[in-house]
Amino acid sequence: MKKLHLTDRIFLESGDCKNLDKTQQYAMLRMFQGQNVFLTGEAGSGKSHVVKLFLENTRSTVTVIAPTGTAALNINGRTMTNVLMSSPVHFKFKLGNKCKNSDSIPDKIFVSDIILIDEISMIRMSEFEILDKALRKFTGNLDQSFGGKQIIVVGDFCQLQPVYERKFEFDYYKRIYGGEYIFQTDMWRDANFENIFLNTIHRQNDNSFKEILNELRFGVLTENNFNLLAKRFKPLASPDDKTICLCPTIKQRDKFNALAFKDNPEPAHTFNRKINGSVLKPNVAPLTVKLKNNQKVMVNRNIYDGDSLLLVNGDVGVIKNINEDTNAVEIDFSISKEDHKFKRITLFHAEWSEWANYAEKMKNSKYKHKSAKLGSIRQMPLVSAYALTIHKAQGKTLEKVHITNDNFFAPYQFYTALSRAKCLDDITLEYPLSPDMISVDYTITEFYQNLQTANITDFNIKEHIKIENHEIIDLDFVDFYVRYCLNQ
Ligand SMILES: Nc1ncnc2c1ncn2[C@@H]1O[C@H](COP(=O)(O)OP(=O)(O)OP(=O)(O)O)[C@@H](O)[C@H]1O
Ligand SMILES: [Mg+2]
Repeated sequence: MKKLHLTDRIFLESGDCKNLDKTQQYAMLRMFQGQNVFLTGEAGSGKSHVVKLFLENTRSTVTVIAPTGTAALNINGRTMTNVLMSSPVHFKFKLGNKCKNSDSIPDKIFVSDIILIDEISMIRMSEFEILDKALRKFTGNLDQSFGGKQIIVVGDFCQLQPVYERKFEFDYYKRIYGGEYIFQTDMWRDANFENIFLNTIHRQNDNSFKEILNELRFGVLTENNFNLLAKRFKPLASPDDKTICLCPTIKQRDKFNALAFKDNPEPAHTFNRKINGSVLKPNVAPLTVKLKNNQKVMVNRNIYDGDSLLLVNGDVGVIKNINEDTNAVEIDFSISKEDHKFKRITLFHAEWSEWANYAEKMKNSKYKHKSAKLGSIRQMPLVSAYALTIHKAQGKTLEKVHITNDNFFAPYQFYTALSRAKCLDDITLEYPLSPDMISVDYTITEFYQNLQTANITDFNIKEHIKIENHEIIDLDFVDFYVRYCLNQ
């Protein structure tokens, strides 16, 4: 167990930490103590909230990973694909293309003290294994799980599962590990996680809604709760800026966005994709992007203003003006950004560059990792934002949610969509409720029933952070303390 530093103790005793519930405080302490943690609990129990606070206050360097762009945005992290593709892992395991913006990432993961993964239920077994093997190999600690780095995994297996685009990959792992979840793998077992289950729901405070959500985790709704939820059947006449429509499939999402586009009386402007050089994956950007004034849009790339990040993939705004002559679009981002400067942002095309990685032989017969630009694709980095797939919404807290409760194809999809809202009144359903919309996986039910979790009865953080007699005050602390006093 890592000894707490004085600055850690100051934070753990601070008001920020005291505002957490007891189990969140315990999780915070264990993360600071260097423990490998599986932080779990119901949707809205504050898992991401705790890790965000941890990330803001830890002195360690952390690589923060999530399965999707929007989940990564939630905790200021990178997607797993981005991390694996742009590190030497990718170079060793598969030569291919990489995105220029990830240039700063290579090797960072190997010098990080901690690897933190949010929304772990959507991480594929293959990704988890590559991360483990690569960290062992590149740190030289072949016998230690994840190369001996502290691993923190965060998430809820009663939400969405990973998407396996290649069926053989799923079949292969299922055969090797005898299951389809990463908690059934050797990597999970070897990480020796301390399981911490957060048991207070913070996202919702409406008790009957909390009860419905809890029952959905077990796949049984009482008659009374079924009837309460069934009353939310209210097909959406026309999409508005405040409501997000959550759809199980991409097809439904596109249909809904197209409907909103058609209902908008403004004239449409078409932006065409432009390609320079030779690229292998032109479809990273669509052939055409059609936009209208007053359309709600989401940025689908990180946008930089010089060297600083201006907008992140996932930011939502409303189009205020389209200038055909300059190919510029003015957007009001006040729905997702508080700062006044985001009321009018002008966007031009974005560039997706393709890079080829190759190995160059050095004089000493070693190989050096190099890359060369193959070409680039230009397109307006915007997509319609009236509807999202449920996958893209996992991890988010949303104000008004409309669910197309049809064609659910995986367990817990309905639960994941519903649990984004704060109260039942904020939800509407496109179709009448039917019992077959509620589905669970009993492997998960059993996993949670048997999960040995940390016992935190009578836990008092103060007891654990008492200043010991032989505390060493190092220069970092003096520096921190001086800055702290100057800021008072
Ligand atoms: N101790 C707390 N006090 C007040 N608000 C909190 C606390 N913990 C979490 N919240 C708030 O509750 C909401 C849900 O938290 P969060 O998104 O961290 O939940 P989660 O467990 O990560 O959910 P999901 O499984 O959906 O990702 C957020 O708005 C968060 O700010
Ligand atoms: Mg979360």
